[in-house]
Amino acid sequence: MATISSEARVGKRLEGKVVVITGAAQGIGACIARMFVNHGAKVVCMDINKELGQSVCNDLGSENACFLYGDVTNESDIENAINSAIDRHGKLDIMINNAATADEAKQSILDNHLSDFEKVMRVNVSGVFLGIKQAARVMIPAKTGCIINLGSISGSVGGIASHAYTSSKHAVVGLTRNAAAELGKHGIRVNCLSSHAVLTPLSQNFFKFDQDGHSRVYSNLKGMVLQPEDLASAAVYLASDEARFMSGHNLMLDGGFTVINPAFGLFSKF
Ligand SMILES: NC(=O)c1ccc[n+]([C@@H]2O[C@H](COP(=O)([O-])OP(=O)(O)OC[C@H]3O[C@@H](n4cnc5c(N)ncnc54)[C@H](O)[C@@H]3O)[C@@H](O)[C@H]2O)c1
Repeated sequence: MATISSEARVGKRLEGKVVVITGAAQGIGACIARMFVNHGAKVVCMDINKELGQSVCNDLGSENACFLYGDVTNESDIENAINSAIDRHGKLDIMINNAATADEAKQSILDNHLSDFEKVMRVNVSGVFLGIKQAARVMIPAKTGCIINLGSISGSVGGIASHAYTSSKHAVVGLTRNAAAELGKHGIRVNCLSSHAVLTPLSQNFFKFDQDGHSRVYSNLKGMVLQPEDLASAAVYLASDEARFMSGHNLMLDGGFTVINPAFGLFSKF
C-alpha cells in the first residue's frame, strides 16, 4: 500500500515511477514529460509528431525518456506504448492521456460538419478511452496505478469552445468518473486535470492570446497567467503518493473561472 514517505514530500516526488504520456511532443505534454523526469520518473512519450517527440526525448536523455510514434485513435499503437514501458522498465505506474485536437469554433451549428465533429471526438474521447483501457490491462494485475486525463474548463461550462471540443471534454470527465468507479477495487486511481487557457500550439489561435501570452479570455486571478508548468506541477501532485486517496476528481486549474458568475458583479460594486 502506498504511504507518504518524507522523501516524497520534498525533492524528487516520482522517483522510480514509470509513465506513458500521449501527445508529449509539444505543449503541456512535453512540459509534463520534462517535469516528471526532473522528479525522477522514466517516461515513454507517444505522439504523431515524430520529429518534435524525438527531440523532446533526446533532450531528456535516453536513460530517462524514449519516444514512440503512435496515434491515440489506434488501439494497437497505445498497446505498443504500454508494452514498451513494461519491456524497458518492468511496470507502468502512471498513464497520462494528454493528446487532443480541436476544430474551428464556428458561430453557427449549421456551419459545423459531422466529419469535423467526429474527428475531434475520436482523438479526444476514443483516444482517452483506449488509453485508460490499455493502461488498466497492466495495472489491474499489478493492483496499483494512476491514470490522469487532460480535461478543460470546456468540460464544465458551455460557450467557450466548439461543440465538438466542448462535448469531448465533458466526455473526458464522464470517462474519468466511470473508470475511477470501476478501477478503484484494483487500487487504481483515475483523475482529470482541467485547464484554463494556456499558451500552446493548440490554443494559440483558438483563444486569441495577446503578444505577451496573456489570454483575453476572462480570468479571475489578476495578473496571473497560467503556464504549462502549472499543469505539470498539478500532474506531479496527482501522480505522487501525496494524492493517494484522490480518485474520480476533476482538478481545475482555472483561477476560479468555472465557479464564479461575474455577471452579478457583487464584488465589482465595492
Ligand atoms: N492549451 C490550452 O489552453 C488547453 C486548455 C484546456 C485544455 N487543454 C488540454 O491539454 C492537453 C494538451 O494540450 P496542448 O495545448 O498542449 O496541445 P498541443 O496541440 O500543443 O499538443 C497536443 C499534442 O498531441 C498530439 N496529438 C494530436 N493528435 C494526436 C493523436 N491522434 N495521437 C497522438 N498524439 C496526438 C499533437 O501532435 C501534439 O504534440 C489537451 O488534452 C488539451 O485539450 C489545453
